[in-house]
Amino acid sequence: MRLILVLAALPTLVWAAPAADLASLEREAAGLIPAFQQQLMQTVKQAVAEGGPVQAVQACHLLAPTIAAEHSQQPWTVGRTALRLRNPDNQPDAWERQVLEDFLQRQSAGEALTQMSASAVVDGEFRYMQAIATGEPCLACHGQAIKAEVATQIEQHYPDDRASGFSLGELRGAFTLRRTLAEATP
Ligand code: HEC
Repeated sequence: MRLILVLAALPTLVWAAPAADLASLEREAAGLIPAFQQQLMQTVKQAVAEGGPVQAVQACHLLAPTIAAEHSQQPWTVGRTALRLRNPDNQPDAWERQVLEDFLQRQSAGEALTQMSASAVVDGEFRYMQAIATGEPCLACHGQAIKAEVATQIEQHYPDDRASGFSLGELRGAFTLRRTLAEATP
């Protein structure tokens, strides 16, 4: 009886520490997203208010990569990715693609996109993703009825654009964060 108890406790002892670390990394990653998201939203909103959606496409084109770089503070790298892309620089890698496909499946199984996330350690890096749903303000540039002048602007900057035709509530993409765990390996 005692032996069984010891054996049953063993996996807990072995995994308790890394599990706690991963949970705190998840919280840290999730905590970086709101400020990044807010700055993206504010930039688009301000550009729409100043010059309409055509101007906003330009602003997004110019500023989105800079905003991501600004929010990538050591040791974290912050960005966005999707299965259907506008900016080819946001291309998902194998792990990100798998997670995005899982997000779609989880959504069709009834899970809400809000708060949908995934994490893993891949090649010595901690990776974290959080789903992004298509909201009402996104439709002007990612929806099914994009104004002709906006569509022209998008086409100019992104000749291979695949990020139009979305409907409200559909998975648009995900925030994706990574950091090395190099210091943790002996
Ligand atoms: C004014 C037009 C405009 C609006 C409104 C807009 N976007 Fe975008 N979106 C863009 C442009 C331009 C890019 C490419 C910018 C980049 O990441 O380099 C982009 C890129 C993205 C990406 C990165 C993946 C990719 O396809 O390259 C995601 C995710 C995204 N948008 C989600 C949203 C969501 C969610 C909303 C609504 C909250 C939204 N967008 C509203 C124009 C817009």
